[in-house]
Amino acid sequence: MTNFKRTTVTSALPYANGPVHIGHLAGVYVPADIYVRYLRLKGEEVLFVGGSDEHGVPITIKAKKEGVSPQDIVDRYHSIIKKSFEEFGISFDIYSRTTSSIHHKMASDIFKTIDEKNGFVIQTSEQYYDETAQQFLADRYITGKCPHCGNENAYGDQCEACGTSLSPTDLINPKSAISGSIPVMRKTKHWYLPLDKHEAWLREWILENHKEWKPNVYGQCKSWLDMGLQPRAVSRDLDWGIPVPVEGAEGKVLYVWFDAPIGYISNTKELCDSEPEKYGKWEKWWKDPETRLLHFIGKDNIVFHCIVFPSMLKAEGSYILPDNVPANEFLNLEGDKISTSRNWAVWLHEYLEDFPGKQDVLRYVLTANAPETKDNDFTWKDFQARNNNELVAIYGNFINRALVLTQKYFEGKVPALGKLNDYDKHTLEEFANVKADVERLLDNFRFRDAQKEAMNLARIGNKYLADTEPWKLAKTDMSRVETIMHLSLQIAANLAIAFEPFLPFSSQKLRNMLNLKSFDWKELGRIDLLKAGDQLATPELLFEKIEDAAIEAQVQKLLDTKKANEIASYKAEPVKENIPFDDFMKMDIRVGTVLDCQKVPKADKLLQFRLADGLEERTILSGIAQHYPNPEELIGTQVCFVANFEPRKLRGIMSEGMILSAEDADGKLVLIQPKVKVINGVQVK
Ligand code: 2FM
Ligand code: ZN
Repeated sequence: MTNFKRTTVTSALPYANGPVHIGHLAGVYVPADIYVRYLRLKGEEVLFVGGSDEHGVPITIKAKKEGVSPQDIVDRYHSIIKKSFEEFGISFDIYSRTTSSIHHKMASDIFKTIDEKNGFVIQTSEQYYDETAQQFLADRYITGKCPHCGNENAYGDQCEACGTSLSPTDLINPKSAISGSIPVMRKTKHWYLPLDKHEAWLREWILENHKEWKPNVYGQCKSWLDMGLQPRAVSRDLDWGIPVPVEGAEGKVLYVWFDAPIGYISNTKELCDSEPEKYGKWEKWWKDPETRLLHFIGKDNIVFHCIVFPSMLKAEGSYILPDNVPANEFLNLEGDKISTSRNWAVWLHEYLEDFPGKQDVLRYVLTANAPETKDNDFTWKDFQARNNNELVAIYGNFINRALVLTQKYFEGKVPALGKLNDYDKHTLEEFANVKADVERLLDNFRFRDAQKEAMNLARIGNKYLADTEPWKLAKTDMSRVETIMHLSLQIAANLAIAFEPFLPFSSQKLRNMLNLKSFDWKELGRIDLLKAGDQLATPELLFEKIEDAAIEAQVQKLLDTKKANEIASYKAEPVKENIPFDDFMKMDIRVGTVLDCQKVPKADKLLQFRLADGLEERTILSGIAQHYPNPEELIGTQVCFVANFEPRKLRGIMSEGMILSAEDADGKLVLIQPKVKVINGVQVK
């Protein structure tokens, strides 16, 4: 690592077809940002490149659905995404987009160079064509029956019901999603990147020379390589994208996964061209062997960043290859896969509406729970607990006590350091290891553990104040209080530095409160960051408690989403066999008023109703106790019941009828009740 002069850090370009959510932040952008902030604090030369991925079929599908142009879609989401990243302090040097003209030119140039070097093979194959719409159909534009599970609405690339990857020819009864017509097979020519020809050097480069890559990344690469690589088409018959820049390719565009990673390069060029004094020539970030290239991505992008993109760069011939690809696994939400189409997500812009100013809380929780080695789960309960028990109770509490006591005893001025006793020395020893530990962990992309270490520093400070109790000593030994507060403030200043990569907003706030001038990773671990006599600003709380009501509101929001999804996807049971009118007439369904309703002792499910049925009274047992936890609330309401249902004994009680209820998609039973009061005993017809 020390052999490198500078680092280029890229983070996956999100598709501009929707806003970004906590899964994006946890998997890619927060870890990348922590790493970049850490390097910057160390004074290293680093460039952090981001941008929106604005091509690809999902964008055209969304545009079609909304009746707008693909450009309208990407314009809308590019600005929403960019704003979310800014708001969460993701400190890109540039966040641009793949519809920029610089990018179109860069991607075309790279394609042409590879083509000139005979780096592609051209193959003709048969693909589905929609004769009505007069176009070839992208995999996503073909629907049909899944051969594995029978789902009638599977896509040509995947069945979302059973999760199987498909190719369009696997579908039974394929249909064009554009016109609804049955597609036909037609010949088409495409440019392929012959990955099979790259396999040998890829094997050596990854499997031999990059054994240090994270096991999840290394493992995925190994299994791809072991399966044997196949040529991959890098052109598509589509009208949204970058035209394939060679003769004979009219009507074809570059495959989105060919142009998107080149976006990292184009965006670097855009930045360097606009601020050459600050960033130098773009080539130094991409072509100098003394530059270290890192790609931060999610696990679904591993093959593209470890195999396809490096093969493109190698085929072009003048680029460096990534030194590491610290990909993460996925973050789930309350036990379910995050899904844009099912709206099962915490959207960043919505989070900030509900928790304004609490960017660092989310950053903290997402790092504490980062899916670094396996998929992980975000829950609102955990979010609240980590805020209240860690940020507020440990870090915030320590800072607040240190600053408030300094205000109280020394009018906000840093007191002098006196003689250290053994306990002070012991505390300083513990504290001295933190820097090396955090560094080692950050250097190995272990952000969760690194943040935990930073939090340990706050724990040390908290314990120091709790054990030394300066508020008690203030009556008897003011010089001791001076030393304790001096050391506590030095720890506070250290915390501002240690947490900067993780919680930049809070660090800035703390830095302002401490009037901390210099701010450098090198200084971490020192106890002369503040000088005796330095004036501190008025203390403010760094973090505040999150109340139950705020969490319950978030949980409710998700429950509402779940309900809406169930309703949207509910498939009614097939209708039973027809019955003659006379059979229907045999049933005597009536309305009655609930006179009494209680749980049947020792029977979880049963409620015992006493009904006024228009004739006299009757008792009916119904298995809905779990859906009506407060049965007394039903008294006085009306229900429908089958009056001539043969009486039967349940739990020793004679039940004289059957009360009607409807079963919702989630299995919840709801009583059928007339909206307007009717006479007891009238018939339901
Ligand atoms: O998976 C995705 O969201 C892609 N848009 C990532 C692209 S990363 C890079 F290649 F640009
Ligand atoms: Zn299926």
